[in-house]
Amino acid sequence: MSDRIHTLSGYLYEYQKSVTQPEEFWARIADSFHWRKRWSKVLKWNFDEPDIQWFVDAKLNITENIFERHLFTIGDRPAIIWEANDPNEEGRTLTYRELFHEVNRFANALKSKGIGKGDKVIIYMPMVPESAIAMLACARIGAIHSVVFAGFSSSALADRVIDCEAKAILTSDGNFRGSKKIAVKAVVDEALEKSSVETVIVYERTKQDVTMKEGRDHWWHDVIAEEADLCPAEEMDSEDMLFILYTSGSTGKPKGVVHTTGGYMVYSQYSFDNVFQYSEGDVYWCTADVGWITGHSYIVYGPLLAGATTLMFEGVPTFPDAGRFWAVVEKHKVNVFYTAPTAIRALQAYGTEPINNYDLSSLKVLGSVGEPINEEAWHWYHTHIGKNKCPIVDTWWQTETGGIMVSPIAGITPTKPAYATLPLPGVQLCIVDPEGKELTGNSVEGNLCIKFPWPSMIRTTYGDHERCKQTYFSTYKGMYFTGDGVKRDHDGYYRILGRVDDVINVSGHRLGTAEVENAINEHPKVIESAVVGYPHEVKGQGIYAYVICDLTNRTEANLVNEIKEMVSQIIGPIAKPDKIQLVSGLPKTRSGKIMRRILRKVAEGSFDSMGDTSTLLDPDVVTKIIEGKK
Ligand code: WTA
Repeated sequence: MSDRIHTLSGYLYEYQKSVTQPEEFWARIADSFHWRKRWSKVLKWNFDEPDIQWFVDAKLNITENIFERHLFTIGDRPAIIWEANDPNEEGRTLTYRELFHEVNRFANALKSKGIGKGDKVIIYMPMVPESAIAMLACARIGAIHSVVFAGFSSSALADRVIDCEAKAILTSDGNFRGSKKIAVKAVVDEALEKSSVETVIVYERTKQDVTMKEGRDHWWHDVIAEEADLCPAEEMDSEDMLFILYTSGSTGKPKGVVHTTGGYMVYSQYSFDNVFQYSEGDVYWCTADVGWITGHSYIVYGPLLAGATTLMFEGVPTFPDAGRFWAVVEKHKVNVFYTAPTAIRALQAYGTEPINNYDLSSLKVLGSVGEPINEEAWHWYHTHIGKNKCPIVDTWWQTETGGIMVSPIAGITPTKPAYATLPLPGVQLCIVDPEGKELTGNSVEGNLCIKFPWPSMIRTTYGDHERCKQTYFSTYKGMYFTGDGVKRDHDGYYRILGRVDDVINVSGHRLGTAEVENAINEHPKVIESAVVGYPHEVKGQGIYAYVICDLTNRTEANLVNEIKEMVSQIIGPIAKPDKIQLVSGLPKTRSGKIMRRILRKVAEGSFDSMGDTSTLLDPDVVTKIIEGKK
């Protein structure tokens, strides 16, 4: 690819260009895509509204850029290699041509159910090629997909169905996850009890019993049976919505991050190509789930736009044993491997025995995403998986950024353990102090902002633009605020220090503390609760809940279990608190604000240096909480 960075000086040159002449820079990158109509202006923006438009007035369809743009050259190349949960089940490989026809066929099926441009479609599916087919079929006809991670509960699913006004849900009968078989359709049924969703399409995966509602529910294999495998691509405006993806923030309600078509397309391919330095014929494997932004940008859109071979894995790292990842690497001769620190730490705990049985010599590049990677895990990954020859790209980004923002460029820019290192071209970082003053120069620490738009950035939060403005563009005027703390060291390299807001990152999954508190408070015996994150060896952060309860007719142990179950049911197992401490009071200021700083300290197990507690309504509460914890 002509837009590929090949040398360190090439990176510096491109970065410089992207800052001094951003419109020229992005126009050049965008030129290699297929536009039905070219843009009238590259960029219009202001961060106050915010109003951001990339490739203004341009017309395109993102699936034409995956398929038609290079079907003549790469039609027979594997697009998706699928590895099943059970190593004994045969996998599947779809070439670009096969994937193209499957996408078209399913796009026609969606149309025959009355789904078209602008309609919202929820995808609640396992990691099978059909989930990628579903996303691309929506994009083909201009429907807006919203993928919901299939581990979310029925009530979390219902909230999203209602919020995005979904017309249809695409799902499966069940999911395989390790040794478990999980009912999925049943969760959808429960979520839909009070909704007006017209169409549910069910992919048969586990062959377990399900109830199908007459007129609403259809089998995937039935709806595609009679459909043609060609479907003309809908013409989309560059700023038409491509997808909505829900993510957690500081308030109790997840927000629907909106990404649009043109800019997201350009940036997801550009960042994929450069960060991973993918070469033709490589097998690329990202272990994320399509339910998260990583799955969108770096399992589906980025790699497929780049004509890469992307591996999709249905299972979990420890099934049938802790060598599974490495067995898959050996079997498919994986060249680029992209995973999360939590998975690395979990596997690290099994030692090197499970690795030694496998040939990992195909690996060329390793990646990390989702949370800060600690130095120990970084070195373990580098030594035992990469055998000291694979660069690690520690990629910092967010659902809202759409693509990787800060990362080494594999083999080209230097790496540094635990550092995401340097911004990609087009990304203008800025570190500010709490008052919003920019901290220039090196050896500084503060809050991470971005001061200039990039093509794949969030455009709005669905149905509530004000919330987008308040959350990201109001804390510091004229800047996008990431919510992360950061350090720029003496060499000018960036190290992400973690969230500075009420968002916690549990095994790489984002959760709002308020969201967990809301779920806990649903329990009839709970009076009040406060949730904080604390350092957890494997998960990065664990969930610690302080709960005030009415203990009549209950034992502490019972209540703690009931509360954990409650959260699991309301949000999903990923949000289940690791520790619950029943307390008689919470440390509140006179104005009623909970001092989470104190609760975080106690959860960490550091009991001295509580800082100034004089503003507390009742400083004794702290002593009691510490005693309780001990
Ligand atoms: C954190 C995931 C340190 C960060 C792509 C961010 C990271 C949040 C890294 C976004 C990294 C992600 N180093 N921290 N390499 N990558 N984060 O929206 O706190 O699920 O704000 O997007 O994850 O999580 P999200």
